[in-house]
Formats: sequence, structure tokens, C-alpha cells
Amino acid sequence: MEIRTVGLGDTESIRCIYRSAFDEKERDLVSELAVDLLSEKTVPSTFSLIAESDGMAVGHIAFSPVTLQGDTNCIGYILAPLAVIPDSQHAGFGSALIERGVAILTAREAGVLLVYGDPNYYGRFGFSPEIAERYLPPYPLEHPFGWLGMIPGGIGEPGDTVRISCVDSLERPKLW
Ligand SMILES: CC(C)(COP(=O)(O)OP(=O)(O)OC[C@H]1O[C@@H](n2cnc3c(N)ncnc32)[C@H](O)[C@@H]1OP(=O)(O)O)[C@@H](O)C(=O)NCCC(=O)NCCS
Repeated sequence: MEIRTVGLGDTESIRCIYRSAFDEKERDLVSELAVDLLSEKTVPSTFSLIAESDGMAVGHIAFSPVTLQGDTNCIGYILAPLAVIPDSQHAGFGSALIERGVAILTAREAGVLLVYGDPNYYGRFGFSPEIAERYLPPYPLEHPFGWLGMIPGGIGEPGDTVRISCVDSLERPKLW
């Protein structure tokens, strides 16, 4: 297994990963999000990672910064999206992608990493609703129990309650 940063020629592989991992209802929206995030020019940077098996891209994850309104001292990020192709699931690729991303964000001294997903899956990586509840998402959530947060490196405390805004690719009500 190799985890590497996304390169110029990865767009089609990324699209294929999401189109195979998500059902018909969600695959267009999520694959479009994954590809659109590649063009986000942000400070600090938006980044994507690929998991490879025998030279083939089998998984992808993206991290983009969030603006914490009224708190300019804290660097915040959101994890979205994440997928592993069905044939390669349950082999640790998803975990490896999350862990590598968290290590990068720990090195960047990010104060919080948010995700909107399945608590049963993300809970094992240290994500919890208690941390996320101080960060108000840009839209009302269809599944509020899936709003989770962690502190990369486990250092520091979440601050006061703040509203967040995301990069343009994520500011689509349908994603929430
Ligand atoms: C979720 C996903 C990325 C996990 O990738 P993966 O490479 O299979 O993950 P890992 O191998 O690191 O971990 C697998 C374990 O996670 C757990 N798991 C996987 N998906 C889960 C889910 N939706 N809910 C709860 N637990 C889940 C299982 O316990 C599994 O353990 P097992 O192999 O003993 O059954 C992958 O299943 C996927 O792409 N799913 C479809 C797209 C998706 O739902 N993306 C996440 C959006 S928030």
C-alpha cells in the first residue's frame, strides 16, 4: 500500500473511485466534489491523497480549510470526501488515508478537523460530536449526528462556538 499526494494525471482515477464507491443517487455529486476540490487555491492549502495498491489508485481523500468566523488564530480543516473502491474495501486503505491526513494536519498545527459522516466509522479515529458542536456548519444538517470533530495531535481545546464557512466546492446545500 502506498499513500501519496494527488498528481496532475489523477483526475480520471479519482472520478472512477467515487463513481464505483457511491450509489447512483450520490455518485455524481461526490465525484464532482472530489474533482472540483483539486482546483481550490486556498491558504492554508487544500490537499488530496491517493491510496495505491500495485500501482493502481484505489482510494482518495481530500482535506480543505474552513474559515472560523471571528477566530483567526485557529486553523480549521474539513475532511471530505473519502472513498475506497469496493474491491479494496476492508483492507485498511480508508484508515491509512485518514491517518496520513491527520499526521499532515498535526504538523500544520491545525486546531480542529471536522467531518460529516458515519460516527461508527470516524469515531475510531478520535472524531466526536462533542468537539464538532462548537463549529456551526454552513447549512442545516440532514443527519446532525454525523457532524464530528477531532483535534489533530490531541493538543489544545476547542474555543468558543463559531460559525464556519467552507471552500466554494463544499458550499453546496445538497452536500449537507
Ligand atoms: C467508508 C470507506 C471509505 C472505508 O474504507 P475502507 O478502506 O474499507 O476502510 P478500512 O479498511 O480502513 O476500515 C474498514 C472497517 O471500517 C468499518 N466501516 C467501513 N464502512 C463503515 C461504515 N459506513 N460505518 C461503520 N463502519 C464502517 C468496518 O468496521 C470495517 O471493518 P471490517 O473490515 O472489519 O469490516 C469505504 O467503505 C467506502 O468508500 N465506502 C463508500 C463511500 C463512503 O461511504 N465514504 C465515506 C463518506 S463519509
